[in-house]
Amino acid sequence: MLKKINHIGIAVTSLEETLPFYRDNLGMAVQGIEEVADQKVKVAMLQVGESKIELLEPTSPESPVARFLEKNGPGIHHLAYEVDDIAAALAKLENEGTRLIDRTPRKGAHGTLIAFVHPKSSQGALTELCQTSH
Ligand code: CO
Repeated sequence: MLKKINHIGIAVTSLEETLPFYRDNLGMAVQGIEEVADQKVKVAMLQVGESKIELLEPTSPESPVARFLEKNGPGIHHLAYEVDDIAAALAKLENEGTRLIDRTPRKGAHGTLIAFVHPKSSQGALTELCQTSH
């Protein structure tokens, strides 16, 4: 079902302050910066080999990422696994009793479809499934 780790999401208070470290010091290529209105975040995608780092800056205090920052401070927010067929993957998980935040996929950054598994089912490690082509 899972193909690989597509990206690791990191919650940051400011992309502007964080990007220079990842881009200039670690030398990651910036694939794009985009606002995802749905999740009230600004997202920067950085390539590392075949995986990516996703920096997430909230654009509103109501953003789930803003609430995460308030509770935990900046740091690792979620792990995203790539799947071929996200609808099938969600149906399988739900059938098997996994708790889901998103029972149907929604639009992620850069034309992907994404869905989150409830952290209760993953011992606190917020888990995203993503499908890159559809
Ligand atoms: Co993500």
